[in-house]
Amino acid sequence: MPPNAVASTPEVAERPIRQRTDSPGRTSVKSRASAESTDSLFERVAWLYAFCRERLFRDDTDRIISALWQTQTPADGTRVIELGCGPGFYSRKLARRFPRIAVTGVDRSESQVRSARQRAAAQNVNNCIFERVNALALSSADATFDILIASRIFTVLPDHQRAVAEMFRVLKPGGRCFIAEPRHVFWASIPLMAMWLLASVIHSGNGYREPRKATVLKTEAFSNLFRQLPWKAVRIWQDGRYQYALCEKS
Ligand SMILES: C[S@@+](CC[C@H](N)C(=O)[O-])C[C@H]1O[C@@H](n2cnc3c(N)ncnc32)[C@H](O)[C@@H]1O
Repeated sequence: MPPNAVASTPEVAERPIRQRTDSPGRTSVKSRASAESTDSLFERVAWLYAFCRERLFRDDTDRIISALWQTQTPADGTRVIELGCGPGFYSRKLARRFPRIAVTGVDRSESQVRSARQRAAAQNVNNCIFERVNALALSSADATFDILIASRIFTVLPDHQRAVAEMFRVLKPGGRCFIAEPRHVFWASIPLMAMWLLASVIHSGNGYREPRKATVLKTEAFSNLFRQLPWKAVRIWQDGRYQYALCEKS
């Protein structure tokens, strides 16, 4: 396995949930998968998301670099992981800018991972790899990465606390994470609404697991999400339509 590889998990575990039946004293185990769709917009209309990512959203690459490394160059071999990397926009940009770091992008969607790999290959970026991994149950050992980045993932992830706990777990002592999230439901929901619309027109199915409206955290909730863990330092700030967190592990 290459140094920046993460053992991939086959698919997000659909944990059984117990549901009451009409018969007193009896319960039936019903898969969560049957209660909500397992189909994903990020699979069905992957190209539309990639288009939004590349052409419409803010490019925070310089902000990420200056927050994490100021004017310095990251040390050779720095291990970076991006959670919910989608088409690998930031993973590829960071890997390209710093050819001596090792970047791993992980995403739940096979189509997004495939698209990220194809784009990296087309750009001849060889120091980043992409794996299909659940951000809520990362397969990496504790304290594996120096740097973690995540952009716009709370908009669709169901369990924010668990995601942040996983971020904390896989960072090395002294490791840092940079998180970027939108601040306004309306703007953040436009890509999701467009994806829902298009996917519903060109595919028939039982709906998609993503919400129609993006989840957007208010400043206090966003801040509390990080402050509940024993980071050495947490910095939260807003800039226009986005909010950011920069955390350092003790
Ligand atoms: C709104 S997109 C953000 C993509 C990218 N980070 C960006 O800045 O554009 C959310 C991404 O999270 C992925 N995702 C959703 N749930 C996930 C999970 N449990 N584990 C890993 N990735 C997940 C989706 O497949 C999608 O690519």
